Amino acid sequence: MHMNVERLKVNYKTLEEFKKFKEYGVQELSMLEDLQENIIEDNCDSPFYGIYYGDKLVARMSLYERSAKYDLYFDPPQNYLELWKLEVLPDYQFKGYGKRLVEFAKGFGVPIKTNSRMKSKEFWEKMDFHTVPYDMERDLGQNPLVWHPNEVKDKKPNS
Ligand code: COA
Repeated sequence: MHMNVERLKVNYKTLEEFKKFKEYGVQELSMLEDLQENIIEDNCDSPFYGIYYGDKLVARMSLYERSAKYDLYFDPPQNYLELWKLEVLPDYQFKGYGKRLVEFAKGFGVPIKTNSRMKSKEFWEKMDFHTVPYDMERDLGQNPLVWHPNEVKDKKPNS
């Protein structure tokens, strides 16, 4: 099966596909508004990447570049990617779509920070993400997880 990761365009079709995802919210609604009011162009690049099954969007994530200037997660501070809204539609979960998207993000070769939702901890562990020491002011209500390209993975036998 092909799992091509595509940069998603902002257009009415993509925004319609987004409605199927649980984490549809302020970001998507403001994209819709910007499109309707011609603030953004039809078919311009969005921060979203996704995988289609036929013509149906079945998995997506959003990636933002963050500057070292505002980095509160890595030591020393560096440019990194913030990954969020990773979601695979229920019928397509556990088939490798989530992993494919995370691997695509890793391909940029910079550190990644994400927030794990409650039940996806095991998934993120499998993707080699780990927690950072808790910082109350920074982490209020969040569960930040990070991945760094230069970290040497402990290779366990049989894994
Ligand atoms: N718990 C435990 N392991 C999980 C998992 C979960 N919730 N989701 C995925 N994994 C494991 C898979 O078994 C697989 O392991 P393997 O490499 O040993 O075979 C690995 O993580 C990669 O899985 P993949 O098929 O790429 O996961 P996915 O495409 O289903 O994407 C999520 C993972 C969490 C992004 C996706 O399931 C999702 O959007 N879920 C909805 C929200 C949520 O958090 N649900 C949790 C279940 S209630």
